Amino acid sequence: MNLNALPKIELHTHLEGAAPPEFIRRLAQEKHVDLSGVFDDEGNYAFDNFLHFLKVYEAATAVLQTPEDYHRLTLAMLEKSADNGVIYTETFVSPDFCGGGDLGAWKEYVHAMQDASDMAEKTHGIVLKGIVTPIRHFEVGKAKEVARCAVETFGDWVVGFGIGGDEGAGKFSDFAYAYDMAREAGMHLTAHAGEFAGAQSVRSAIRDLGVSRIGHGVRAIEDMSVVAELVERDVVLEVCPGSNIALGLFSSWEEHPIARLRDAGVKVTVSTDDPPFFHTTMNDEYNNLARAFAWGEDVFKEINTTAAKAAFCNDTTRKTLL
Ligand code: ADE
Ligand code: ZN
Repeated sequence: MNLNALPKIELHTHLEGAAPPEFIRRLAQEKHVDLSGVFDDEGNYAFDNFLHFLKVYEAATAVLQTPEDYHRLTLAMLEKSADNGVIYTETFVSPDFCGGGDLGAWKEYVHAMQDASDMAEKTHGIVLKGIVTPIRHFEVGKAKEVARCAVETFGDWVVGFGIGGDEGAGKFSDFAYAYDMAREAGMHLTAHAGEFAGAQSVRSAIRDLGVSRIGHGVRAIEDMSVVAELVERDVVLEVCPGSNIALGLFSSWEEHPIARLRDAGVKVTVSTDDPPFFHTTMNDEYNNLARAFAWGEDVFKEINTTAAKAAFCNDTTRKTLL
């Protein structure tokens, strides 16, 4: 079974988090940005835990200062994804990070990312769509501004709205207004939940924000009534096992709950989250899952069909994935 050759659909990546360390170092040199503390002696991203990871992630984004930088980043990311057989991917991207948070320039950043996506589609046959991301540990007021950015650019490339960042900061209900803005504009909705908070966080994302997908969601397994709610409401999980293991949520692939969630009837998909931070790729995710759970190609095909159905693209693009 050659899973590397399987066409893959990935619903959960972060554009800034997909930046190869060498890409960030090159930009830092060009722009004379001091990135001490971001890399270890081997040149990999260096962090000890989730909150430290978020800090290092933010520090690295200091080199992403212009739409051209995001253009280059989008091309670099899509080249690696295509190498792993990914044919369609969605990426979280934060107006708060683009150009140091100058929200006035957001449209130019979207044009740059869209242009790079079009180029990569022509050269590598990979399709990218964007999910606009408020950062949970920034102020609640910022999330509303980010929702305004999302609504202004919602269309062919920007398709969704989904919060990321520190799940310990604030409550989902604090962000309900921002989500209402996105929903009323017709945007698709997701949220990071059930990663660094338990099953009740997953329940709150479903009930307080009305999301159709959840980023991670794996700690729903701690309360079977939340698992039942996921099944009943047809909520799809964007599961990133390698990320969860790298950040210490589970101690091994065998311990990861993705197979138990799937067995309970939850719709699961597989993604990498922030591949160079977690030393993973889509091929690694598939091969590790196959080994840990004796999953054959049929399971991965089912997972990709689930992902195609849950993708935030329009139906014309979806047909090409099914
Ligand atoms: N931003 C980038 N990666 C993230 C993760 N795993 N959880 C929350 N926010 C993130
Ligand atoms: Zn994520």
